[in-house]
Amino acid sequence: MQFEEFFDTLFGIMISHLVRTKSPRVHTTVRILAIETSCDETAIAVLECSGGLEKPLFKVLGNALNSQIDIHKEFGGVVPDIAKREHVKWLPILLGKVFKDVCYDLERPNIDLIAVTTGPGLEPALWAGITFAEELSKKWKIPLLPVNHMEGHILSVLVGNETQPEFPALALLVSGGHTEFVSVQNYGEYSVIGKTRDDAAGEAFDKVARILGLPYPGGPEVARLAAEHREAHEHSPITFPMPMLKSGDLDFSYSGLKTAVLYKAKELGELNDDQKRELARAFEDAAIGVLVEKTRQALMERMVKTLIVGGGVSANSYLRSELEKLLTEFPETSLLFPEKSLTTDNAVMIGIAAYIEYTKNEKLPLGSLRAQGNLSF
Ligand code: KG4
Ligand code: ZN
Repeated sequence: MQFEEFFDTLFGIMISHLVRTKSPRVHTTVRILAIETSCDETAIAVLECSGGLEKPLFKVLGNALNSQIDIHKEFGGVVPDIAKREHVKWLPILLGKVFKDVCYDLERPNIDLIAVTTGPGLEPALWAGITFAEELSKKWKIPLLPVNHMEGHILSVLVGNETQPEFPALALLVSGGHTEFVSVQNYGEYSVIGKTRDDAAGEAFDKVARILGLPYPGGPEVARLAAEHREAHEHSPITFPMPMLKSGDLDFSYSGLKTAVLYKAKELGELNDDQKRELARAFEDAAIGVLVEKTRQALMERMVKTLIVGGGVSANSYLRSELEKLLTEFPETSLLFPEKSLTTDNAVMIGIAAYIEYTKNEKLPLGSLRAQGNLSF
């Protein structure tokens, strides 16, 4: 047996031993290196986690992120192979930066667990993170845990909020790839109870931004123009129908709304700045309005102790203020948003989700990890 093979076998035995061992996880401190590469953000964080499931506590020791937005901008969206190339380039750079901040030695870091996003996302991009994480896991002989990116978005509210979520909770996940309601019975117990039938809310914001000639990612740009219009005018001169309001379920659809904006823009011809503000306002009124109304329906249908809102679109100020207004009708339900820096993709939320899964489950998965672009709950 070659030395390499011997080393791999030994490592396999160690990992399988770890898998079978019930570790005293609840009140020990766990240091997690978290890696996120599901889309166009390369992110690495080191978290110190404690408190178990009753009072999970997270200290972010190091956190670094490189956004590829400027590179993908010219294509109007994320190009998977370019995203992968950039992740491969940036992962070692960010690891070096985080380790420098945390004063860790690249040879013998003080880490108990490596967490990596395995889906959903762009598969070439996910593979970049997985391969990197597997190499580190082998080199340092540290176990590896796969993380569902969407669970990360849900649990991102565990940092920066005074209150903990109470169960049963409902999560409204609104990002560039997803728009869905997830019923959260407890940590680790998720089921999707409504989702978009076509475009995601963030995707609609990005497409409308393109129609208005605004740069990618369009969400913040469209939101800025809409806010400027709302500030100056109480009412919108244009209104778009709110899609799927009467569908009788908790599903969404955004492609018709985007097309309505396109037709209106074509009708107006060359758009001046005022017209762009009007269109952005009217689009945001409808896009956010439908999220709020569907949330009302969901809260009326079921007992929800906490409403959690996560994903890139949860940074939207109008969504936040409209949901805060809505929740005055549901005094039994509390509302949790992530802090703004954790709304879009990041590695901190991946570390949080890893700690919750690690604490909840008795086992670490066996075998090698694989990218799952369409991973669902
Ligand atoms: O969660 P995220 O970073 O990536 C995915 O997992 O998809 O979400 C990115 C999305 C983009 O579509 C972006 O336009 C949107 O979130 N977004 C916003 C705002 N900030 C980011 N949409 C509306 N208003 C915002 N303020
Ligand atoms: Zn995301």
